[in-house]
Amino acid sequence: MSFGRRVFYVLACLILCICIPPGFIYWELLSRRAHQQDSLDALAWNESRLQFKSLGHYFAVTPKSGTPRVDCLLPPSYQFRYCLNIARSFKEPLSARYHPRPSAVSSLEENAPRAYWRWPGNISKESFEDAAAREWPGCIHCMNIVRYKVLGRKLYVAESAPGSRQQLGAEEMLQVVLYLFPIPDMEFLLHFGDGCVNGLPVISWNVCRQFADAGFTMPSYTVWERSLGPTQRMVYSTCLEKRYPARKRKPLVIWRGRTTDSRFGSFNRDNYLQALRIQLHQLARNYSDILDVRLVELLHCNKFVKKKIRDTGSWIKFEHFNKYCAILDIDGNSWSDRFGHLVHFNTPILKMESNYTGYFEHLFAPDTSIIQFAKDFSDLPEKARQLIADCQQTARRDDTEGGEGRRIAKNMQVASQALMDQVGIAEAFAYTLQVYKNLSSWEVDPSLKGFKQVKGTCCSVAQVPKLLAAAVSEYHGRKA
Ligand SMILES: *[C@@H]1O[C@H](CO)[C@@H](O)[C@H](O)[C@H]1NC(C)=O
Ligand SMILES: *[C@@H]1O[C@H](CO)[C@@H](O)[C@H](O)[C@H]1NC(C)=O
Ligand SMILES: *[C@@H]1O[C@H](CO)[C@@H](O)[C@H](O)[C@H]1NC(C)=O
Ligand SMILES: *[C@@H]1O[C@H](CO)[C@@H](O)[C@H](O)[C@H]1NC(C)=O
Ligand SMILES: *[C@@H]1O[C@H](CO)[C@@H](O)[C@H](O)[C@H]1NC(C)=O
Repeated sequence: MSFGRRVFYVLACLILCICIPPGFIYWELLSRRAHQQDSLDALAWNESRLQFKSLGHYFAVTPKSGTPRVDCLLPPSYQFRYCLNIARSFKEPLSARYHPRPSAVSSLEENAPRAYWRWPGNISKESFEDAAAREWPGCIHCMNIVRYKVLGRKLYVAESAPGSRQQLGAEEMLQVVLYLFPIPDMEFLLHFGDGCVNGLPVISWNVCRQFADAGFTMPSYTVWERSLGPTQRMVYSTCLEKRYPARKRKPLVIWRGRTTDSRFGSFNRDNYLQALRIQLHQLARNYSDILDVRLVELLHCNKFVKKKIRDTGSWIKFEHFNKYCAILDIDGNSWSDRFGHLVHFNTPILKMESNYTGYFEHLFAPDTSIIQFAKDFSDLPEKARQLIADCQQTARRDDTEGGEGRRIAKNMQVASQALMDQVGIAEAFAYTLQVYKNLSSWEVDPSLKGFKQVKGTCCSVAQVPKLLAAAVSEYHGRKA
């Protein structure tokens, strides 16, 4: 190596060594500042930004005027990763939203429930004991009812409970709820299963709201599993907006799913035409210019049915549904669990009218936050066509405001942003417990015979801020 070259290398090394560390520090500072900015915005983005108007079984929830845009800094790689993963990789700060609350949980503005419920009058001890002892002969999609007690803000579960995956998810949520919110001593029943449980004072993932004694709701396992913190929610919204802009959509309504149905456990020549999702698949064949709607898996179908439905589609990641003008949503095993995921998207949802109601669904009213189609699909083609025309017009004008579909998707996203972050989900569960306690007309027996304390390290289902997880685990006593 010549002398000149050696000098050159030494100098180059020196320059690199001198420049890289400050460069890193500068970059770190920049991104930390951006982060702080985000967490401030995310906190300002709370329910006080929303207005509520009662509309039958629903509330029309819209942003108040002057609401800031959701916007934050994204890593340059966002084009190549799922927005959900990008959001998850942001470290959620332990903001004031995660601090334990001194006062009891109340309803939302206009007395809107944080979690849907319908029950006439009080809950009597007799009906409570009846439900606790209930079995389910002949019911396709039912599971156990599990009995709980809260004493001194600690959670106790009946020793006889089977301990399903769903049960463990609910208990993880409850541990967070009891840490964050002042829940009084009480007894309650959780129902882990789909389908109507009207007449029973139990808390389920969804209820059938046509009944005056429909029951009470809690967030589902999957809602908790996919939950994000307020800052992460903001990153998620921003990412969806940038990655799937409204002016670049395929002019189709998208759906993929399985043959699940609330009424049939399996499908054959005699019943398959009555199954909603199979009907939908067949109808879509006649409207392939507007509906990209296909069954993917033919679960529990016999040979005859499989032969009739050869044109199955392939799975599309839910997030990629945002490449289309609208997303269709239809009931399956009674309700549509995925709706709890779709409400965070920036694409209008074309949802089948349904009496099944998840804990949050009353806050997403037809024509305000979703578009509804009839259960017999009679108006589906027309509504799909309108949404697509509207979406194409938005693309042509390249206008960021957009038309009807865009307005509806925005209302939906704004409500889910403010109400359905991790803490909002826990608060909805806390609300249900408070309502349940208010209606319970008996004193809680402090005996713990037949119960065991729910311990466990927070959190394995949801990804919560580390400091919160440590505090919750500490509070409930880690598992020995
Ligand atoms: C919501 O944000 C506003 C500012 O936008 C703030 O004044 C208010 O205290 C916040 N409310 C809650 C419950 O965090
Ligand atoms: C599709 O169109 C054909 C021909 O017009 C008609 O016979 C059939 O009933 C239609 N199917 C559905 C599910 O609408
Ligand atoms: C909801 O329940 C009511 C009352 O039973 C019934 O008339 C209506 O058809 C149901 N709606 C749907 C979409 O199933
Ligand atoms: C429970 O009852 C108390 C006292 O009547 C009331 O102030 C509170 O709003 C009720 N809470 C809910 C969530 O209904
Ligand atoms: C319901 O129970 C509460 C609490 O035990 C009691 O104060 C209230 O009078 C009861 N209401 C009715 C209608 O029975």
